[in-house]
Amino acid sequence: MGIDTERIVEAVKRVKPLFMDRERSAQITEKGLADYVTQVDIRVQEQVRQELYELYPGVQFMGEEKDNSGIDFTGDVWILDPVDGTTNLIHDFGHSTLSLALARGGELVLGIVYHPYTDELFLAEKGKGARLNGRRISVSARTQMRESLISVGTAPYDKRQARETFLLFADVFEKCADIRRLGSAALELAYVACGRIEAYFERNLKPWDYAAGLLLIEEAGGAVTDFAGGKIDFSGKADIVGSNGAIGRLLVDEFFS
Ligand code: IPD
Ligand code: CA
Ligand code: CA
Repeated sequence: MGIDTERIVEAVKRVKPLFMDRERSAQITEKGLADYVTQVDIRVQEQVRQELYELYPGVQFMGEEKDNSGIDFTGDVWILDPVDGTTNLIHDFGHSTLSLALARGGELVLGIVYHPYTDELFLAEKGKGARLNGRRISVSARTQMRESLISVGTAPYDKRQARETFLLFADVFEKCADIRRLGSAALELAYVACGRIEAYFERNLKPWDYAAGLLLIEEAGGAVTDFAGGKIDFSGKADIVGSNGAIGRLLVDEFFS
């Protein structure tokens, strides 16, 4: 089965009015500690799921706001985070994205991160490179920690490791140019892919947070590993370091080990 990337991109972009619906983003349910879902998350997931199903009925669908038991990663699987950055959405912070990936036989082949507030669409196809609104992108060439801008994720839904995590941020902050916290893992990975930041790291991410970003970074010439420098098996939870390669290696060797 061939995948028509243009049609997928069109379907993804059609979610923009839903993201801008402030009435629905005010309809909030708490899923867990500081972990919320709004009617926007639900509607976006349903719209995209339905459109993908009409195009490719044989592909399984994994989405953050549904039960995903029984997904078989030896087959074809869509991996969707309808709204990555729900806390940002609730606060009208202007940085929430949609993240969509396609895995085929255990390999990521398509990754899309769409930022409806800026109309930036990041697209990666396995073996064909990464693009931002059609223009080829690559990771930054910086190799020195002191000139690097590094984004950090706070792993907000499990605060038990908060002290340790923030001490790690302090260690990195002392050595790099500065740190950032955007509040959308998918966007932070996409920013690594296009060279705006040298690296991003966060513990405890789910496949829908990082699958599209992982392919974007790899296709843009960078690397994504866990905190020990190991390969990511994108079918489960993971601690993620996405980088231009050089800065990720420095983080793993000098800060995480
Ligand atoms: C979250 C965001 C946030 C990150 C969390 C994610 P959600 O996703 O990406 O930036 O810190 O770890 O879970 O819940 O807004 O889809
Ligand atoms: Ca997410
Ligand atoms: Ca989400």
